[in-house]
Amino acid sequence: FHIQQLLATVVSNCGCLLFGSEQDRMQLWHEQSHRYHTEMLDFKKLTAEAMNGLRNEHSVLFKDLEGAAVRVDRMEREMDYVEAQTSPRACANKADKVVDHCKYLTLPKNSALYSSLKTYCVEIISGIRSVKILKRVGSPKGMWTRDPRSSKVYVFNETSGDSIYQFNSVRDFSRSPGVTSSRQIRLPSEWSGPGSAVYNSYLYYIQQTADMDMQVVKYDLLSGSVTDVAMFPVESQATVYSLNPETVADLAADDEGLWLLYANSDKQIWDTRCPRENAEAAFVVCGTVYVVYNTRLASRSRVQCLFDVNDMVISQEAPLIYFPRRYGAHASLKYNPEEKQLYGWDDGYQIIYRLTMKRKLLV
Ligand SMILES: *[C@@H]1O[C@H](CO)[C@@H](O)[C@H](O)[C@H]1NC(C)=O
Repeated sequence: FHIQQLLATVVSNCGCLLFGSEQDRMQLWHEQSHRYHTEMLDFKKLTAEAMNGLRNEHSVLFKDLEGAAVRVDRMEREMDYVEAQTSPRACANKADKVVDHCKYLTLPKNSALYSSLKTYCVEIISGIRSVKILKRVGSPKGMWTRDPRSSKVYVFNETSGDSIYQFNSVRDFSRSPGVTSSRQIRLPSEWSGPGSAVYNSYLYYIQQTADMDMQVVKYDLLSGSVTDVAMFPVESQATVYSLNPETVADLAADDEGLWLLYANSDKQIWDTRCPRENAEAAFVVCGTVYVVYNTRLASRSRVQCLFDVNDMVISQEAPLIYFPRRYGAHASLKYNPEEKQLYGWDDGYQIIYRLTMKRKLLV
């Protein structure tokens, strides 16, 4: 429920990521914010009702399960947590934290992605079900991803370049000798870092301009043209993950929207809880950012920090997820919300991790 305030702050204080600049685009943005605000109010109301339900349940529990002190204890902690999150004072206190967030997380305007916000997403990762090593193509570092809508696969060799490879499906990709059965797409400008995202036949990539400003380019893969460019203000060049300095910023498309993860250098932190130090990659699932850590001498990658933009995940339920031992380290990890899979690039190997999910406790 704080996400609406968070976004309002993001928009007014940071002016972070707005695609396009014309008046009517601003108008559209305002309309969307308004709609979003209304939806959030509805959601808040629902939450309040759910809280009342919880409260009643709580007293019943207390009477019935006098012996089960541990469970009640836990429930009380959860109630405290929710109450702290919902009280107006908590919001006021969070003011400076919100400004922090806007340095790392923004939700750019994109109507196609925004419309999916209506289905409020309630899942959290509980583990890694399986690992599939698909093939090895390209350099030790790179990125690959699958468009959740078109099922097409996109391969970004190396950590920058002006072209990418497109395959019709994961199967086509895995059967192809090298990249021979792909279509090579030459882009109008160079992408920087393995932090792109593809969603609904649009490619979003980071472009660094001559004066080292960063832009997010929205490229229509069907018509082969740039449809939008957004500048975003970064005070300095700080990479998001200390173990993958080539990732200047990381884009992620998930069930709730398009996210942009980036860091600024005067703080070694990302959010109040997730340090950049030893971070390798991150991905967003249901509005929760999962940060993956490793060591400089690559060891086992693990999710060790997470941050939920809706404040709906409590730390006790946060899973400590270890990735199976692999060749090297992840250069990128891209989450596909339709399949609940991660597309990883590890020392030139393309890997698919299937995830298991559970419901968020507080929903
Ligand atoms: C990937 O990049 C490396 C280094 O530039 C190059 O040697 C290799 O041929 C590239 N592979 C593909 C599939 O483009």
